[in-house]
Amino acid sequence: MRVLGIETSCDETAASVVALDGASAPEILSPKILSNVVLSQIEEHAAFGGVVPEIAARAHVEALDGIVEAALADSSVSLDEVDAIAATAGPGLVGGLIVGLMTAKAIAAAANKPLIAINHLEGHALTARLTDGLDFPYLLLLVSGGHTQIVAVRGVGDYQRWATTIDDALGEAFDKTAKMLGLPYPGGPNVEKAAAGGNAGRFAFPRPMKGSAQPDFSFSGLKTAVRQAATAIAPLSDQDVADICASFQAAVADALGDRVGRALARFRQEFPNQAKPALVVAGGVAANRTIKATLEALCSEAGFAFVAPPQKLCTDNAAMIAWAGIERLRAGIADENTADFVPRSRWPLDSVSAPLVGSGRRGAKA
Ligand code: KG4
Ligand code: ZN
Repeated sequence: MRVLGIETSCDETAASVVALDGASAPEILSPKILSNVVLSQIEEHAAFGGVVPEIAARAHVEALDGIVEAALADSSVSLDEVDAIAATAGPGLVGGLIVGLMTAKAIAAAANKPLIAINHLEGHALTARLTDGLDFPYLLLLVSGGHTQIVAVRGVGDYQRWATTIDDALGEAFDKTAKMLGLPYPGGPNVEKAAAGGNAGRFAFPRPMKGSAQPDFSFSGLKTAVRQAATAIAPLSDQDVADICASFQAAVADALGDRVGRALARFRQEFPNQAKPALVVAGGVAANRTIKATLEALCSEAGFAFVAPPQKLCTDNAAMIAWAGIERLRAGIADENTADFVPRSRWPLDSVSAPLVGSGRRGAKA
């Protein structure tokens, strides 16, 4: 089984071919990423301190043909030899989604192949099966620039959202903090770098939602606290910036640990027969070492395996989209969303959990 995947929901233009050997035993997954081409638009957006939707859409139009060609060439698979075209159809910036999905539809029509419209979040949710062959069910923490969610992944197409942010996404909080402190875009890695030389105990920032029975996240109050602290001691020296970053990061890790700890306990209750349950992290923020270390410690204490796919497959890419296409083909549900599917800028993974009022809808990909 070979699937060509296309991803254009935010600021990466990506295409990939993933194969699953039909000869391997069905219970053992041994997929191969034959190509994985990702073109980041960071430079186009850096001057604006964030992703500009219109610039992103235009950049996708310019780059996508070449990226798809490169992905096919790298994989040594011809279009004739793929079984289906899978493309991200949401959630995300609608301009980019239109570019990717329409291109995929055109390729599928010309090559007479089925099209599979994929939910971007499903791509993130299933990546751990592509990289680690993980069995269902498992728990997913998705922390990116547009999303902050805890999802129980029970099967292909069977997801239950247990928590989401009621305001900003975590990556967005990192990016806004960086902007406030005059650090370059993208903010997350720069906040982490600055924090390395800072005193995490200097500022007692709030730990949003910590201790609350409600499982959700909130980061906008923390952002306000950072702004107030920075304003109070302005102008900021490099050491002040480092101390604020370190204190912010510590608050985030602490709050996240509390929220995830609750989800681990719930997972134990709901899936008591899982001998070795697993927590999977995905999204750009998962690159943060302080956050990773906090989650790792939490998992080892709770008897959970901690699974962090390689960073290249944690951030936006098309291999996860191609893989989601393969999973849907194998599960016999590839024809749920086909050639007449219309891009959806909002498309919850779990249609049962009602959206929270104002929940995480301010980010580029919200
Ligand atoms: O998954 P991703 O590449 O794209 C989205 O789907 O949003 O995540 C990007 C987000 C940005 O907000 C970026 O600042 C954040 O991930 N990020 C980090 C780090 N590296 C990237 N946040 C904290 N620490 C990092 N080292
Ligand atoms: Zn993403």
